[in-house]
Amino acid sequence: MCGIVGYIGKRDSQEVLIEGLKKLEYRGYDSAGVAVYTEGGLQIKKSKGRLAVLESQLSDAPLNGTVGIGHTRWATHGKPSDENSHPHTDNSMKFSVVHNGIIENYMTLKEELIAKGHTFVSETDTEVISHLIAELYEGDIVKAVQQAVKQMRGAFALGVLTEYEPDRLVAVRLASPLIIGVGEGENFIGSDIPAILEYTRNVYILNDGEMALLTRDGVELMTIEGNFISREMFRVDWDLVTAEKAGFDHFMMKEIYDQPKAYRDTIGSRISEAGDSVILDEISMTADQIRNIRNIQIVACGTAYHAGLVGKSVIEKLARIPVETDVASEYRYRSPIITPETLVIVVSQSGETADTLAALREAKRNGARVLAITNVVGSSVSREADDVIVTWAGPEIAVASTKAYTTQLMAFYLLGLFLAQTLETVEPAEIRHTLAAMQSLPEQVESILARGEEIQAYAEQIAPKEHLFFIGRGIDYAVALEGSLKLKEISYIHSEAYPAGELKHGTLALIEDDVPVIALGLQSDLQEKTVSNVKEVTARGGKVLGIAYEGDAEFAKSVDQTFSIPRTLDVLSPALTVIPLQLLSYYASLARGNDVDKPRNLAKSVTVE
Ligand code: F6R
Repeated sequence: MCGIVGYIGKRDSQEVLIEGLKKLEYRGYDSAGVAVYTEGGLQIKKSKGRLAVLESQLSDAPLNGTVGIGHTRWATHGKPSDENSHPHTDNSMKFSVVHNGIIENYMTLKEELIAKGHTFVSETDTEVISHLIAELYEGDIVKAVQQAVKQMRGAFALGVLTEYEPDRLVAVRLASPLIIGVGEGENFIGSDIPAILEYTRNVYILNDGEMALLTRDGVELMTIEGNFISREMFRVDWDLVTAEKAGFDHFMMKEIYDQPKAYRDTIGSRISEAGDSVILDEISMTADQIRNIRNIQIVACGTAYHAGLVGKSVIEKLARIPVETDVASEYRYRSPIITPETLVIVVSQSGETADTLAALREAKRNGARVLAITNVVGSSVSREADDVIVTWAGPEIAVASTKAYTTQLMAFYLLGLFLAQTLETVEPAEIRHTLAAMQSLPEQVESILARGEEIQAYAEQIAPKEHLFFIGRGIDYAVALEGSLKLKEISYIHSEAYPAGELKHGTLALIEDDVPVIALGLQSDLQEKTVSNVKEVTARGGKVLGIAYEGDAEFAKSVDQTFSIPRTLDVLSPALTVIPLQLLSYYASLARGNDVDKPRNLAKSVTVE
């Protein structure tokens, strides 16, 4: 969370910074600011609220200059306010810093600096950095930053500009993402590639413990200790328009509609031409190493965790290996039993989630092999894992995850089948049959999307409600959890998901006249039981929307309304069932007048624990 940009060149830096910040707003949006070196020296403008607030202030009173740094914030230390916004400066106002991450020992540093006469105006950890650099500065900004970083503990990315050396910009990466864009006579800093893509496709990806010195004429990469590094430039070959809304009102809707393509891209080249096996060349484990796996632990957060719950069912069913699924922020503190025969699978769209990264490191420290499922090539998670399955969902901008989740499901299906074919736990005919069913999923998703207005009508019905329940059994319960999270996240309707058989153990007390309940009934071996639970709800006045396969008259009879999905294998059904639930949360959010793509209090990429 928090986005950083930096520019040095010939252009009007204010414009480059604002354009870059617009592409980073998904990383946080409770305040924004820029620092620009102008004729009158270093000047800072920053403001609480969306970037548009800052933009209008700058259009009234522009900061003219060709070097600057900018920031969009998601509050950690200190509430969203003008004072707590970045860039921060020191008492001389000669140094400015933008920062993403956390300085864990900032209180100790702050006390030491106060004792030396520094005074502070914000509650942030970042302000300490600008003061520390000012304190250590002896004519060379690179050296001052290196010395400051040595005293700082935590995870961070920094952009630093000083009035004393306006032809130099410094960037530092320590466990928070940062890239350097290389242009002609101009260079850039960005938390993420879209921030600079309008200007250049040539980038260096900084590793942890590395920094860069940017001038107009070049970029020098070095370690924090000062050793120069040579690195190959990375050429970005994807297009910025793929990250734009493509005619939809919101990124979320565009991303929901991206799913058929995302399914095809993720599974396409990984199924053999004959359609009888899975090819996962990216997995370097030998057949013997796979046979030695005693247990699997899937670790992730939020939506990615929900994909992991489906992954557990898939792997256990297909490969017969015991699987546990853990929320990443809990995993490392519960002393998990990890052995060299444990395979840990971390799932992360961004590949930068601090909790997931910490879990990955804990697993590796304990000798486990780590496989990552991620959407971002070159992300921290992808670089630290032993093996990586990339989900080819393309950039996901809306805070609420949709296509990343469903492509994570695709990755789990491929992985489950890959393990099963190696361990021979599933007959070849069943593998072929499952792969064929997977290849039909994109078209089936398209047919569900074509009936979006049925869901819109239901969403408008439930939009005024305060509470809603989701129920399901087995793998349907995992999807119910995701449907419930999505609804809460963007519509702000309180909802809960329950295993259908668990309602009667307490929650049924909340069911009264007209309480909406969504019942998932896609698991044929469990459906009769789910029908009994639906009856417990309707008998108490609850109004049930059932989600079932087309032509499932039995289930349709037990509920008040039905939304049907095309038939597939029960194990694959989450890839279809979740689509109407995503649409439901989208339309409910719209009906309640919320900001669909940027729900309150949330950020897209959560890089603090
Ligand atoms: C919800 C959502 C979050 C993320 C979670 C993990 O829609 O997007 O719950 O799934 O913050 O993020 P990643 O997958 O980037 O590790």
